[in-house]
Amino acid sequence: MKLPPLSDPTIDLRSDTLTTPTSAMREEMLAAPVGDDVYGEDPTVNALEARVAALLGHEAGLFVPTGSMGNLLGVWTLVRRGEEVLCDVQAHIARAELGAHAVLHGVTMRTWTSSHGVADTDTVLEQIAAPTPYLVHTAAVAFENSHNFGGGTIQPLPHLREVSVACRERGVGLHLDGARLWNAHIATGVPLADYGALFDTVNVCFSKGLGAPVGSMLVSTRERIDKARVQRKRLGGGMRQVGLLAAAADYALDHHVERLAADHANAAAFAAAVAEKAPSAVTEPQTNIVVLGTGSRPAPEVVAEAAQRGVRISALGPRTVRAVTYLGITEAEAVQAGRLVGGLLCG
Ligand SMILES: Cc1ncc(COP(=O)(O)O)c(C=O)c1O
Repeated sequence: MKLPPLSDPTIDLRSDTLTTPTSAMREEMLAAPVGDDVYGEDPTVNALEARVAALLGHEAGLFVPTGSMGNLLGVWTLVRRGEEVLCDVQAHIARAELGAHAVLHGVTMRTWTSSHGVADTDTVLEQIAAPTPYLVHTAAVAFENSHNFGGGTIQPLPHLREVSVACRERGVGLHLDGARLWNAHIATGVPLADYGALFDTVNVCFSKGLGAPVGSMLVSTRERIDKARVQRKRLGGGMRQVGLLAAAADYALDHHVERLAADHANAAAFAAAVAEKAPSAVTEPQTNIVVLGTGSRPAPEVVAEAAQRGVRISALGPRTVRAVTYLGITEAEAVQAGRLVGGLLCG
């Protein structure tokens, strides 16, 4: 049965990467002083690299086009060819970076299982393999915070601390995929530098909830960042007057971090509206991502029916769908979408 659309325009909750730059952000981009960043001469990029490194308590930063490249370079500085990085089974680096760490850098991965992306400390530490002549050497452990496929879940700070201390005792590196670390920071109040201090390399993204069109930043020691800068160029990621894009990220840091609290409130409003009709489909979200169980209905069917009725969400698994709130989605839209999706999932 073809159902009429509920509203026009569509409420698109597929991802927080759907944000578009605001007029004020575009103005800041146009006004940015620029230079050739491959020569290290773009003042806007240099300022942003210093700013983000300081925010996360690290020595240096490297502006990269994507979060995937930030993760690729971060892990590369810690793990040599033939060694492994351990991560969660649903981690973005394991599932959604198209095997780049293996294809390009010879890095193997082993995963732990978790509840919604959050494991207990022993589960992680028990997997670490010391160097022997017969087992793959665990060179690094990688976390994702907040955890995308886990449903925007936050890694508890005491857990991260325990793993960090144990890894450092054993000489195992630590990488953080902080594509949405801003969301974890706003939801918990934990300073960004407190998270940063626990990791050797951290990748953060400006093009998700922060609303910039492009851009991520890898932070670490000066030595690792110098090395990563060379590898970025080798990968084709050396960009020229890229201060235009760094300006968008800089604007986002000034204006779009605190407001993530509104996205979190809207995700909670969406989940509550779903729960009015389908309470067993949803749990309260921790940040801006809501994962819903579709019960007996295949996820693609729910996605297609919601789209027909004016709400776009994405299928995460055979029986799970995801909705994400972001800059530009209002509370009223979140509630309207939640009611519609809840109606599809009840009974
Ligand atoms: C948790 C996480 N890490 C990394 C990335 C990669 O970012 P990009 O799409 O900029 O490569 C994403 C993208 O959605 C993500 O959700």
